[in-house]
Amino acid sequence: MEKSNQAIKVFVSSVIPTVGTDLLKAAGFTVSTWDNLTPIPRNILLGKAKESNALLATLTGRLDATFMDECKHLDVISNFGVGYDNIDIAAATSQGIQVGNTPGVLTDATADVAFGLMIAASRKMFYMHKKILEGNWKHFTPTENLGIELKNKTLGIFGLGRIGIEMAKRCKGSYNMKVIYHNRKRNTAAEELLNAKYVSFSELLQQSDVLSVHSAFTEDVRGIFDKAAFDQMKPASIFINTSRGGVHNEQDLIDALNNRKIWGAGLDVTNPEPMQKDNPLLNMDTVAILPHIGSATEEARNGMSRLAAENIIGFYQNGKVPNLVNP
Ligand code: DGY
Repeated sequence: MEKSNQAIKVFVSSVIPTVGTDLLKAAGFTVSTWDNLTPIPRNILLGKAKESNALLATLTGRLDATFMDECKHLDVISNFGVGYDNIDIAAATSQGIQVGNTPGVLTDATADVAFGLMIAASRKMFYMHKKILEGNWKHFTPTENLGIELKNKTLGIFGLGRIGIEMAKRCKGSYNMKVIYHNRKRNTAAEELLNAKYVSFSELLQQSDVLSVHSAFTEDVRGIFDKAAFDQMKPASIFINTSRGGVHNEQDLIDALNNRKIWGAGLDVTNPEPMQKDNPLLNMDTVAILPHIGSATEEARNGMSRLAAENIIGFYQNGKVPNLVNP
């Protein structure tokens, strides 16, 4: 095995935790990597992919139909991430390229960030921290800086899958929150586990005190949280997005907050990314924003690295990527 795998060239298009590259090397592949922390330029990515049999990619590289056309010789693309909206799956499938992702290992890490953002937004934490940095902590005031409490409120989950379930568990366990959700398909196992109620999208908007987005990013949810959606939400509600920024319309979110259509927001993902430092959301007291760090724990990133490598190893061992996302 070692000998024949040597002829297989794997290109890793980002710096990733070494567990993955070590596994690929131990399996005998010829591994090369992009060793720079900044995203690989497209022309270099294309050039490297053209010389390789397998690609371990990350979400910073757009692998579109043109890419698939030029790299149709690739056997497998393994994406370092559970989301794979950076990849044109239909184009990969039509070129016969198997695509894998890394589900499961970042569930807790991402749910923790959603949960943390919810609390941070509800108590204006990021804004208050900024006030101290600016030298504006003058004295205690009984009527200022007031947040809202979460106990017994209704949590609405948009996309009740692995991460949504973990977020719901945290909210139920800590705040006795009632869980409602909207999915493309009902998740009856999760309904039972969480005593969760399936509702229409409009009901989700109208009934949630905290609405947390956990869906995969597909064309049918692009910009689904827009003016029309925010207009239906409760004025005291908090919008959380740890999925993909493209699910919300950022200007509509800014307007909804300014016009008090909703109370606050917690975002780990923005639209576009990176967010510019003059974005008005950064100066709003009820908004908490992080730079897409949902999966950024040692445990999750090591797990992602391992799974991403195993997708490639599994393909060459058994002809099928273990975490295959092609239909
Ligand atoms: C994912 O896995 O999709 C994350 O957004 C990347 O950390």
